[in-house]
Amino acid sequence: MKKILIQFDTDSHPSTFDRVVAVDAGVDELFTYGDVSPGNVTGLVHGAMFTRGPGNLKNTAIFIGGSNVAEGEALTKKVASTFFGPMRVSVMMDANGCNTTAAAAVVAAKQHLDLAETSAVVLGGTGPVGQRVAELLAAEGCMVTLVSRSKERAEQTCDAIRERTPSGKLIGAGAASEEDSVALCARQQLVIAAGAAGVCFLPAGALSTLKSLAVAIDLNAVPPVGIADVGVTDKAAEHDGTICYGALGVGGTKMKVHKQAIASLFEASDRVLDTREIYELALHVAGLK
Ligand SMILES: NC(=O)c1ccc[n+]([C@@H]2O[C@H](COP(=O)([O-])OP(=O)(O)OC[C@H]3O[C@@H](n4cnc5c(N)ncnc54)[C@H](OP(=O)(O)O)[C@@H]3O)[C@@H](O)[C@H]2O)c1
Repeated sequence: MKKILIQFDTDSHPSTFDRVVAVDAGVDELFTYGDVSPGNVTGLVHGAMFTRGPGNLKNTAIFIGGSNVAEGEALTKKVASTFFGPMRVSVMMDANGCNTTAAAAVVAAKQHLDLAETSAVVLGGTGPVGQRVAELLAAEGCMVTLVSRSKERAEQTCDAIRERTPSGKLIGAGAASEEDSVALCARQQLVIAAGAAGVCFLPAGALSTLKSLAVAIDLNAVPPVGIADVGVTDKAAEHDGTICYGALGVGGTKMKVHKQAIASLFEASDRVLDTREIYELALHVAGLK
């Protein structure tokens, strides 16, 4: 039976990136819908649920994407609540690449550090990627300082993460300047810059002053990059005694995780691949499980 992936995108023009990855992941047919919202998705989900018998529903799956992560989250909830009993298909949510990117970044760090013994800073930590990075690190037992331009926003984000990870050790911090960001990275072992594209947080030369830093990961590929000392293609490259990953260095793992996550949707009809599930998969992709 043909593997059909149904792509629900909250944007008017569904992501070409997600479509290419779906094809490369081996789906036989890709049905793509744009401008999908919780208000208009029910009929589309019914079409997926009621066409194949329960035993064959694992050959149909749903991918939820789009540039707005909050809308993607709301859509995922609505899709999951439309299923009942055995009438369900597997679902993956990766709006704006948030889950696959965060998973790939944390897996890169875990290759070099015992995360349960690590103090980490997440710069730009209030965005969709940063929040997920912080959540995954906290779930691994890391002591996480989540940084925003607004201390209040950072603390609110930590509170939201604690609801999902009650044992999480998280502190919200405000940084108004590059100097503040550098100061927050002192005595830390890991920094992950997950700030907006084209925003620099740690200026050139910062790594040489941050002697305790073992790993620095920058997810911003758009110049100026988030950590000036990290090259965009760095993949476990060493600069000033720190192991560095740039956005494209992390991107290779992200692509593998994305493809394998799509392939795994067709193994069962009841998978919901969100932040934690995609991270579990990333650990396998990286040979850490
Ligand atoms: N490598 C990959 O495969 C890949 C895939 C997806 C995304 N990315 C990258 O990952 C990064 C994070 O993505 P995202 O969607 O989570 O980012 P985002 O929402 O655009 O920004 C993250 C945070 O950056 C802070 N920020 C925004 N403008 C700022 C400024 N001018 N100065 C300082 N801080 C600023 C904001 O926090 P506050 O307002 O709270 O300060 C915001 O919440 C981006 O650089 C994106 O391009 C990479």
